[in-house]
Amino acid sequence: MYYLSPSILSADFAVLGEQLRRVEAAGADMVHIDVMDGQFVPRISYGMPVIESIRKVTGLIFDVHLMVEEPLRFLEDFKKCGADILTVHYEACTHLHTVVTQIKRLGMKAGVAINPATPVDVLRHILREVDQVLVMTVNPGFGGQKFLPDMLKKPGRIMELAREEEISCPDIQVDGGISLENVREVLAAGANNIVAGTSVFCGNIEENIAGFKEAFANAAE
Ligand code: DX5
Ligand code: ZN
Repeated sequence: MYYLSPSILSADFAVLGEQLRRVEAAGADMVHIDVMDGQFVPRISYGMPVIESIRKVTGLIFDVHLMVEEPLRFLEDFKKCGADILTVHYEACTHLHTVVTQIKRLGMKAGVAINPATPVDVLRHILREVDQVLVMTVNPGFGGQKFLPDMLKKPGRIMELAREEEISCPDIQVDGGISLENVREVLAAGANNIVAGTSVFCGNIEENIAGFKEAFANAAE
């Protein structure tokens, strides 16, 4: 099963509610919400009040990507404002196991993200606890960056680790620089959850989403 998670970082915030309705009607599976704290990454994006207000306009799954240092402090707040999946960075958590356990205790799905420079193998002992691994295919912090092709090796290694640990493989999400030009390659590498910001929101949203869905259908054959 393949999922498309459009990243609202590239949406037009002046008409965010309307754009979310279009994304939902066009068949997106979830919505990717990038929260940046100005410390883990150089920029500040948006947080709980924005999530709370868009929760009112769409029934889509909220896939929240926390680019935040020590996110343990905020897990409950994100649950309250409507997050369904909470992904934290391996590099931002001193006690990753505690964070993941707490996300699940609060009733959300738990994801762990790794930066481009972080090898997949650091996840071996947390893999059985997580619902999703997020492979960053750019350095986090900005939309519209160039895809790093070397990252295509990571999904296969995640599947290998899951086999070695004798557990079912979590969803493999990829994020950064993914477009209709490279999505086929990314799916062939083993990812099943595609985050796309620029390539969904720039140009015609409906046509862009249809393009991704077509790539999913071809990959499933
Ligand atoms: C980058 C964010 C991404 C970003 C992707 O730090 O995590 O989700 O919005 O944007 P594109 O698809 O434009 O690279
Ligand atoms: Zn993201």
